[in-house]
Amino acid sequence: RKKVTVGTIRSLHKKNEPITVLTAHDFPSALAADISGMDIILVGDSLAMVSMGMEDTSEVTVEEILMHCRSVARASKASFIVGDLSMGSYEISPEQALATAIRYVKEGRVHGIKLEGGAEMAPTIKRITSAGIPVLAHIGLTPQRQNALGGFRVQGKTSAGALKVLEDAKAIEEAGAFATVLEAVPAEVAALITKELSIPTIGIGAGNGCSGQVLVQNDMIGNFPPGRFLPKFVKQYGNVWGETIRAIESYKSEVKARQYPAVEHTYPISDGELESFQA
Ligand code: KIV
Ligand code: NA
Repeated sequence: RKKVTVGTIRSLHKKNEPITVLTAHDFPSALAADISGMDIILVGDSLAMVSMGMEDTSEVTVEEILMHCRSVARASKASFIVGDLSMGSYEISPEQALATAIRYVKEGRVHGIKLEGGAEMAPTIKRITSAGIPVLAHIGLTPQRQNALGGFRVQGKTSAGALKVLEDAKAIEEAGAFATVLEAVPAEVAALITKELSIPTIGIGAGNGCSGQVLVQNDMIGNFPPGRFLPKFVKQYGNVWGETIRAIESYKSEVKARQYPAVEHTYPISDGELESFQA
């Protein structure tokens, strides 16, 4: 498979071929995404929850995300890697954001960065892209701002809300983002915004009219204990959690019953060695 670049993303969009995006946070999850042919691997700050057990994304630091980025980068041969800028590492000024973005490239070994926010982030997106770092924008529901949004709520449900998301989309396109994530927006609104833009939209909870889709890998492979809240848009394509528990429980009962290790898992001794050892 050929290395995916922003040029590849642009040509997929031009051909109207959906762009596939999946999160990864470590070496094996990135290897799986890369081998399966994901166009883009996102080291999302959702790793705060799915791999660090944090309550939300506000706690995870730049250093922590960078460590995950490096592991992902080691695994990925062809996918385009994007790292999520950590909350607090880019909002203060375009200069702060550019300095952080440069760290993501140099230390995290990513190809591009993602940041949350619409029109108000346009100068920041312009600054980062002008330094040659591709920016994936993220509008609609922006989880880092959940406290201001009043929780994880669908955005753009009213005509005023929809207009706001459209204005954000236009502003970040103008600022030079190569694509934008569109999260938790009614399908009709997302489809309309997608038609209005020249850059691709990557939907999550935004229906089938986007230019591509993104999901959190743990969610879609079912690698999380049952009972955890999953948003409506998540489709579980596997049950990795169930398979993991089954395997570990089998191991436990075989060890307890002295069935494991069996002869085939055991090293033999050379002829005559045991006698000399015992003597
Ligand atoms: O952090 C994340 O995983 C994300 C995607 C769900 C878009 O931002
Ligand atoms: Na994120």
